[in-house]
Amino acid sequence: MKIAIVPIDKISRHEGDKVIIKGWVRHRRSSGKLGFMTVRDGTGDLQVVVSKGVVGEEQFALCGHLTQESSLIVTGMVRKDARAPGGYELDASELEVIQIAEPFPIQPKEHGVGFLMEHRHLWLRSNRQHAILRIRHEIIRTCRNFFDDRGFTLIDTPIFTPNACEGTTTLFQTEYFDQVAYLAQSGQLYGEATAAAFGKTYCFGPTFRAEKSKTRRHLMEFWMIEPEVAFAQLPDVMQLAEDLVATVIRGILDRRLTELQVLERDIVKLEGMIPPFPRISYEEAIERLQQEGITIQFGDDFGGDDETILANQFDRPVIVHRYPAASKAFYMAKDPVRPELALCMDMLAPEGYGEIIGGGQRIHEIEELSKQIRAHGLPEEAFKWYLDLRRYGSVPHAGFGMGIERVVAWLCGLEHVRETIAFPRMLYTLYP
Ligand code: 4AD
Ligand code: MG
Repeated sequence: MKIAIVPIDKISRHEGDKVIIKGWVRHRRSSGKLGFMTVRDGTGDLQVVVSKGVVGEEQFALCGHLTQESSLIVTGMVRKDARAPGGYELDASELEVIQIAEPFPIQPKEHGVGFLMEHRHLWLRSNRQHAILRIRHEIIRTCRNFFDDRGFTLIDTPIFTPNACEGTTTLFQTEYFDQVAYLAQSGQLYGEATAAAFGKTYCFGPTFRAEKSKTRRHLMEFWMIEPEVAFAQLPDVMQLAEDLVATVIRGILDRRLTELQVLERDIVKLEGMIPPFPRISYEEAIERLQQEGITIQFGDDFGGDDETILANQFDRPVIVHRYPAASKAFYMAKDPVRPELALCMDMLAPEGYGEIIGGGQRIHEIEELSKQIRAHGLPEEAFKWYLDLRRYGSVPHAGFGMGIERVVAWLCGLEHVRETIAFPRMLYTLYP
């Protein structure tokens, strides 16, 4: 009978079976005629016991040469053992060494962040990075399912674009044959076109911001999931954002508890983050900050610290709506009752993780939109197609963007977004 190749996370289904594990050595030690290795295969870790009596002199000696991260294929019998991490061990009967690794630069000791970032390609093999990236994957899967289950159509938007979406100061410019192109800051403007064609759509892809900020919340390249809904208004997308975030929290608690525990995340705090999420206006937020002794007034932007102070007043995400229109993007609809306010919203994560969602209602009258494009000094030619959307069956519509890395940082309880993506792009970091 052919011996099955088994992933370590499915090992419990194979008690008493002879199986094959393909992986890498995390640690190894020997005592007398026994060798013990922790082998990882990308799905989990397994203790492998190598006995000289079983594998013979030659293979046992070979095992003695296995360094950290050496790659191998082990055949053996799965045995239940309550003392083993994970509850199972493998009694090796045969070893096939693929490569003996050179001394691995990352040791089980403390390394500086700079060193680890330079070895990011190897750092990904650690239990911690593994847990974070598995949670990231689950967050993304949960978001996609959320929109798919609600009848949204996924329509991805271009990365090379002829114009700005979120302002001209943070554009990455590149050559596009004989033209100039910019890397997309957001898929929103195209999302609006797809919403007029499909009703409810979302896009999910990398977005780019040349932000000269070196904070724990900023990346130059980050992934954003952006729903856009025809006939929706500000309250509709506030509700959608709340439902999405609540579903993501629940999904992670249900399906990635082990990983949250690896990261020593405070699970009880996450358990308590259930809807309804508080909603406050920008003006109320300003008052709350003033009461905390912050010097801030109507019209000012919130800094990262302000966001933290505000969010700390709540034990779950808070939605702040109706910011002053003057400081916001050109496309934002204005409150008909208070035209100095934009019909927009941000969701701030608790525990100091800052803004995770930004969005709102879009201008749908053509005159108003042309006026704003001019007022923001944007090239009207480039926005001709965008204005067309207001010419042919224009309807109120709204949407938002959620930055995946901020959500990962928050749900994992990380200090910095640099660990939330496999290869982060930061102000001075382009390697590896
Ligand atoms: O608030 P922003 O700039 O909104 C937009 O781009 C809208 N066009 C989205 C829309 O309505 N469809 O960005 C949305 C989110 C932020 O709330 C934040 O989570 C994330 O994107 N984000 C960043 N994440 C990491 N690094 C950066 N430099 C980020 N800038 C924004
Ligand atoms: Mg924003």
